[in-house]
Amino acid sequence: MADVKSRCTHADLCFAALLFLAAVQGSPPEDPIKCASGETNCTITNSYATFPDRSACRAARAVFPASEEALLAVVADAARTMTKMKAATRYSHSITKLSCPGGDHGLIISTKNLNSVVRINTTSLLLTVESGMVLRDLLKAAGDAGLALPHSPYWSGVTVGGMLGTGAHGSSLWGVGSAVHDYVVGVRIVTPASAAEGYAVVRSIEADHADLEAVKVSLGVLGIISQVTFRLQPLFKRSIEYEKRGDGDLADAVVKFGKQYEFADITWYPGTGKALYRKDSRVSSNDNGNGIFDFIGFRSTATVGLAIDRSTEAGLEEFGNAAGKCAAARVVNSVLFLAAYGLTNDGSLFTGYPVVGLQQRMQASSSCLISPEDSLITSCPWDSRIKGKFFHQTTFSIALSKVRAFILEVQKLRDIYPDSLCSTDINNGILMRYVKASTAFLGKDKDGVDFDITYYRSHDPLKPRLYEDVLEEIEQMALLKYGALPHWGKNRNIAFDGVIGKYSKIGEFMRVKSYYDPFGLFSSEWTDQVLGVEGKKTSLVKKGCALEGLCVCSEDSHCAPEMGYLCRPGKVFKDARVCRNG
Ligand SMILES: *[C@@H]1O[C@H](CO)[C@@H](O)[C@H](O)[C@H]1NC(C)=O
Ligand SMILES: *[C@@H]1O[C@H](CO)[C@@H](O)[C@H](O)[C@H]1NC(C)=O
Repeated sequence: MADVKSRCTHADLCFAALLFLAAVQGSPPEDPIKCASGETNCTITNSYATFPDRSACRAARAVFPASEEALLAVVADAARTMTKMKAATRYSHSITKLSCPGGDHGLIISTKNLNSVVRINTTSLLLTVESGMVLRDLLKAAGDAGLALPHSPYWSGVTVGGMLGTGAHGSSLWGVGSAVHDYVVGVRIVTPASAAEGYAVVRSIEADHADLEAVKVSLGVLGIISQVTFRLQPLFKRSIEYEKRGDGDLADAVVKFGKQYEFADITWYPGTGKALYRKDSRVSSNDNGNGIFDFIGFRSTATVGLAIDRSTEAGLEEFGNAAGKCAAARVVNSVLFLAAYGLTNDGSLFTGYPVVGLQQRMQASSSCLISPEDSLITSCPWDSRIKGKFFHQTTFSIALSKVRAFILEVQKLRDIYPDSLCSTDINNGILMRYVKASTAFLGKDKDGVDFDITYYRSHDPLKPRLYEDVLEEIEQMALLKYGALPHWGKNRNIAFDGVIGKYSKIGEFMRVKSYYDPFGLFSSEWTDQVLGVEGKKTSLVKKGCALEGLCVCSEDSHCAPEMGYLCRPGKVFKDARVCRNG
């Protein structure tokens, strides 16, 4: 931080740097579960305090078991009374409605108190933890024992059960790839059972058990995972260096770059025509270097800065100033680059690349979560209690064989409307992470690149966004033309319509589901829609539905005709139907 300040000569840069780096301490997030009285009459949302359809979910009760035994008793009791139930995690970071038990009478089973290390064996490299353990604690436990989980999401505020439920991943084309679930060699899961068995059982699914491929990525519909065993690796260090250049050769570079570095990723800034290459390799734990990656976007950030940031973007939206967004994006991204995105060589100062540090300190961060209470002077950037970030996230993976053509088409569309994609740049671009095919039934079927697109969402669901047609066209192009698979824990409703037809092992998955939970007590309206049970769909057709990705528009009223946004075909992908102004 001191380094950025000393290099900060341009007035705008200094201003933006203060917005990003005035990070001190902050309030931890609110509990996503709220009950009117004790543990009854509850609602649950996610950490953004709203689901894609802007609802919250209701439940009759919420319980917080602290052991597998207590969990078993809770599930047995609910199964005996045929009560719908769902696992919910400590912070609830899934955007989609995976934690909602069906209907108002359901039961929320929080894994918040299932957060201990069960067993660790450094000889066999096996670590067993309870399912509610937060990734940042898991990484610490592994690191302290001289072990490393090679891949994980970069945000460490997620839980073990949540990562498995949604197929969370990092970035790699090496070895078995970057999906957390592909490092799992055992799961203990509590499921409903017959009266003779006491209404619930703990199933211990070991590495050689065929059901592991269902349990590894389950959307939470099989039961509640109580413990997970990971096969780890001996501790190593990472060496990271960022290189930024124009995006002219991105389409040709993407596959080669992914094969070149074990932890490679790319952040693409399509609006301003840049790409940031993360050259990230494994080095020996004996190499010099005490670096830490405390990603700036995941630090607690001064509320006043966030409010200014949000109102700047909202103002640019209001006045239709796409070029202004591009200018703001340039400033923000220069500042982030100068600040090395939060990398420091020694834990406090960035002095130059490469930054070398221990795996557990480099792979993920979430410092905004552990801030002390400070009456919301600072918080996580998306905390709903402040006027902070509010966004859509469209996240999907495209097979390596198709990714070049996809990028070229997105660039073609961008070139028709040059300022249209600065709404992604201003939110730190499109994160492109590498994923490998998995044996999990609901895992990725091919090696590919995952595109993570974060963009402005209005607090008013009926208000169109600047150039929203362009992102809608990209979303539909990916899903329909390029057969992309959406991330289970992110995305807007339309990403999941018919998605299950893309999974060749869905039959095997549904067989395990009906065996573990024959009455669908762990299923909800949302999971039935995602899994296409009885032809159900995730899209929701109503006035203005396309603005929020609840439907693909088929008539003008699905957009905002009174504000000039009409349902029109795509410009590059002609089959798309998007809300365009004029
Ligand atoms: C549940 O809480 C809501 C307010 O959150 C209240 O309106 C309602 O009456 C409560 N219902 C019961 C059964 O307590
Ligand atoms: C750790 O694993 C090794 C190899 O599988 C085994 O021989 C040893 O007994 C285990 N240690 C403990 C404490 O369980």
